[in-house]
Amino acid sequence: MNTTGPGAGAAGGGGSWLMAREVAGVFRIPQAARQSGFSISARTLRVLRGFSHHRMTAYARLRQELAAEPRTWLITGVAGFIGSHLLEALLALDQRVTGLDNLSTGAPRNLDDVRSHVSPEQWDRFTFQEGRSRT
Ligand SMILES: NC(=O)c1ccc[n+]([C@@H]2O[C@H](COP(=O)([O-])OP(=O)(O)OC[C@H]3O[C@@H](n4cnc5c(N)ncnc54)[C@H](O)[C@@H]3O)[C@@H](O)[C@H]2O)c1
Repeated sequence: MNTTGPGAGAAGGGGSWLMAREVAGVFRIPQAARQSGFSISARTLRVLRGFSHHRMTAYARLRQELAAEPRTWLITGVAGFIGSHLLEALLALDQRVTGLDNLSTGAPRNLDDVRSHVSPEQWDRFTFQEGRSRT
């Protein structure tokens, strides 16, 4: 378990960034081709879009994997800005989450906010532990 500072204790994250990057990539390919005066066949475009689509769905595949085989995550700093948003994202994927926070800068209202955004069943998969992680 990761107890060295705020963050998640299992692999994951970066999904939104990946999606944004790949979506941008899909639009950049034909635009860049047009700007350089390079003609690109419909078939090549389909292949390129296929690659991009394949990569774009990495986050979707991860979501499917997690939904099929939920994991238990540890989030340190769960009552903080990043931690509470991560909590919401993981609960929305029906994951089990244990959250640790010493409430030094975080606030229980952030957890209340998460609770209002997930279903009661998803909220039941969360356990909160008030305490300090040490380096
Ligand atoms: N856009 C916004 O509305 C907004 C709001 C808040 C913060 N931010 C940004 O978010 C970033 C900070 O977010 P963050 O989530 O890293 O900080 P944070 O302070 O919100 O969260 C850190 C959490 O870790 C807890 N914590 C600290 N040390 C601990 C320890 N030893 N053991 C257990 N818990 C511990 C704190 O109580 C807190 O809940 C900054 O870049 C800030 O500018 C943006």
